[in-house]
Amino acid sequence: MVAPSTTTSAASAPAANRLAAVQEMARLQRILFEVEREFTRTATTLIYRVGEPELKYLLCQHVWESAGHARFLRERGREMSGFGSGESVRDSIRRIFNEAAAPADGYIALAGFYGVLKPALLAAYRHYLEATHHLADWPSRKLVEEFVADEERHAREIAPYLVGGGLSPDSSGHKAPPTTQAPASWSIHLSTILADLGGFLGERPRIPLPADFSWKHTQRPYTHPPTCNRGKYPTCSSVFGHDADETPIVRPWLEDPKTDARVIRLMVYVWLMMEMDAVDYLATVFYDTPTAPFDLHFDLARHLWDESRHSEFGYRQLPKLGVDLMTLEHSLELYNVLVHMTPPERYAMMTMEFEAGSFPTKAHVMDRIRELNDFEADTLLAFDRNDEQNHVRYGHHWLPTIMGLFGETRPVEDFVKATQEKFRQLTAIHGNKTPHALPPEKRLTGNKILKLAAAQ
Ligand SMILES: [Fe+2]
Ligand SMILES: [Fe+2]
Repeated sequence: MVAPSTTTSAASAPAANRLAAVQEMARLQRILFEVEREFTRTATTLIYRVGEPELKYLLCQHVWESAGHARFLRERGREMSGFGSGESVRDSIRRIFNEAAAPADGYIALAGFYGVLKPALLAAYRHYLEATHHLADWPSRKLVEEFVADEERHAREIAPYLVGGGLSPDSSGHKAPPTTQAPASWSIHLSTILADLGGFLGERPRIPLPADFSWKHTQRPYTHPPTCNRGKYPTCSSVFGHDADETPIVRPWLEDPKTDARVIRLMVYVWLMMEMDAVDYLATVFYDTPTAPFDLHFDLARHLWDESRHSEFGYRQLPKLGVDLMTLEHSLELYNVLVHMTPPERYAMMTMEFEAGSFPTKAHVMDRIRELNDFEADTLLAFDRNDEQNHVRYGHHWLPTIMGLFGETRPVEDFVKATQEKFRQLTAIHGNKTPHALPPEKRLTGNKILKLAAAQ
């Protein structure tokens, strides 16, 4: 039997055509990678604009998972012809995420991200599963099936915080966000942009933008708010001090061998919960670094989620030890000062000053707490310490890169020294501006902690 001759057409076809089926799926994976990357970069702007601690924690978790999706897509995509070796994001994807971050009201922005963009991403992943070959592209399919399950869970997890304009909130767990503006018109606005793309993967017929369409983010460039949102919680400048009638953490007590270990445990849980300030100011760095290597955003996303978990340690444990969280003021000082600094300066202060400088005191605190035979407290502090060691390593690794993005050419050591000095100057201007929301008799202070500890 003689095979039909295809010599003529095969020889004249470009070699790339042989891999057309692979290249088409790699093209879709590349778009999905860019969408997850941009979600990571821009959904972080929601974190300091919403007030509920549990919503902040959830957003940090979702951002971390999205960064993970992007990383897996990049890894699998690079096995396939046509994914490309670069990591840049095309303008048509970038501008929709810039637009999503644009609303001044963080809850309107939240509704857009989760009511429009995340469902569109889920639809895109489902389209990928339909479009690809179940056996030939099995490695991608297994990843995408996982991502579909993650996206479905994200939708369920965020639903209690959304009102209108997208997913229907679960009535049992619904919490009304502090906004009276209807997000519906914003959702229509974002949906119009997606319709122009035909969905992220072009899986639907395109509906071109109307002639009178106007982009909000080009009219009003996004800026971080001057302070972070803590919702219903009372606020102050700092929870650290020397007067036991004023602040919950009394610095000399942390080091004083005569301090009861139960007092130190309460104070360190306050300290951990207030790492929410690190959550809020670190979240500002992503949006400001659109051309960063993806691995930098990946490590920042991990760092962010670690800080959110550290804060959650305090948020979960303090009520168990008798603390009414409505008496604990949230410290806004670091966000309020750092927002006036550049991203490399923010990142340098965080990793080279606050984190690098916290180890000796935390080591002493851990030794004291071991006296209590409180296995959970020991565990939380051990993981905190391990995470913080990683954060300082991230700092050494990435600070030169972030400096480079902003044209900073000084040696790292000189830059850090100058930044520490600038931080002192800016603290004199912008620091200590948040008065105590509660009078001393109503707020958690060192002396109140003494009483709580004695009752344990
Ligand atoms: Fe931390
Ligand atoms: Fe940290």
